[in-house]
Amino acid sequence: MPTTDEIRATLATVKYPGFSRDVVSFGIVKDVRVDDGEVFVQMAMATSDPAVPAQIKANAEAAIAAMPGVTSAVVRIDITAPAQQPIGAQTMPQTSIPGVKHVIAVASGKGGVGKSTVAANLACALQAQGASVGLCDCDLYGPSIGLMFGANERPFADEDNRIIPVERYGLKLMSMGFLLDDDAPAILRGPMVTKYTQQFLRQVNWGNLDYLILDLPPGTGDIQLTIVQTVALAGAVIVTTPQEVALIDARKAVTMFQKVNVPVLGIVENMSYFLCPSDGVRYDIFGSGGGQREADRVQVPLLGQVPIDIATRESGDRGKPITAADLTHPIAQSFLAIAKKLTDTLAR
Ligand SMILES: Nc1ncnc2c1ncn2[C@@H]1O[C@H](COP(=O)(O)OP(=O)(O)OP(=O)(O)O)[C@@H](O)[C@H]1O
Ligand SMILES: [Mg+2]
Repeated sequence: MPTTDEIRATLATVKYPGFSRDVVSFGIVKDVRVDDGEVFVQMAMATSDPAVPAQIKANAEAAIAAMPGVTSAVVRIDITAPAQQPIGAQTMPQTSIPGVKHVIAVASGKGGVGKSTVAANLACALQAQGASVGLCDCDLYGPSIGLMFGANERPFADEDNRIIPVERYGLKLMSMGFLLDDDAPAILRGPMVTKYTQQFLRQVNWGNLDYLILDLPPGTGDIQLTIVQTVALAGAVIVTTPQEVALIDARKAVTMFQKVNVPVLGIVENMSYFLCPSDGVRYDIFGSGGGQREADRVQVPLLGQVPIDIATRESGDRGKPITAADLTHPIAQSFLAIAKKLTDTLAR
């Protein structure tokens, strides 16, 4: 007859659907009883997807039934609806990341405005000023930090099974993209995304850092909310273009952070203008003055304006952000100024 420990060990081979972790380490196994070869397991989980508990039940019962000495295996799963976490009602305690002094989120309401570009160059600029810096790509569906730093290796784990960040140009890097198989994002939905993001944030061994920059996915949805509710942030930097559609979304991002009491440290206006290299004429492709107006409206500093620049795009695509590649480049200089303004704001 198997012992309850042996049954738990068997359950530890049953994966939570969509995750590489098992149901025991997820903490959903509440009780294991065995009586003369008849095994009863009680689990409890919060999910809105009925397919998940059904699959866990089937897999767990099959695994236990295959154990020698087991005559019957019954797994019962109590399901509660996932906790609704309305903005402002923090059900999750925000925890600081051990060893990390300041965690700064780079966010935007709108996609494609240059969050990742700003996050990457800002990280390089802070480091150029002598700080130890980490950069974490929190974009589960469209991770891009790997590409921007020419990094796609699987990270190693330490003896406590925590993930060791990958290093490039003196920065510590982590991306969900390093951990996911190519088809994984498609199978992650709603509550699983939240769970995965929380786990991801807690399981990286950053060591000692002055700054950890979080590159957030676009929007103000579940992932963003999970992050701002899970990690004690020093503040947020909002990226926008001067265009009205981007500003409207930037405003939503500002509101999201304010409602959870995360200070907005400032706004970076990206793709502000284009300086024609041949004649030096400035073109305000997405309009002008929007970043400043929005910063004034929400009473935060405009940290800087970054023009559209070919070398900036090329160096991002080549795996070395312009600020890491050439500190004398005008764009690198503007990121150094942005970093300086940011650290000044933080110090206040
Ligand atoms: N100042 C700039 N000059 C030229 N190209 C830029 C600039 N900023 C960003 N880009 C380019 O625009 C594209 C989108 O930028 P990026 O990936 O940083 O945006 P994002 O806001 O992170 O996008 P997503 O919402 O998909 O995460 C990239 O190809 C990037 O190289
Ligand atoms: Mg991005």
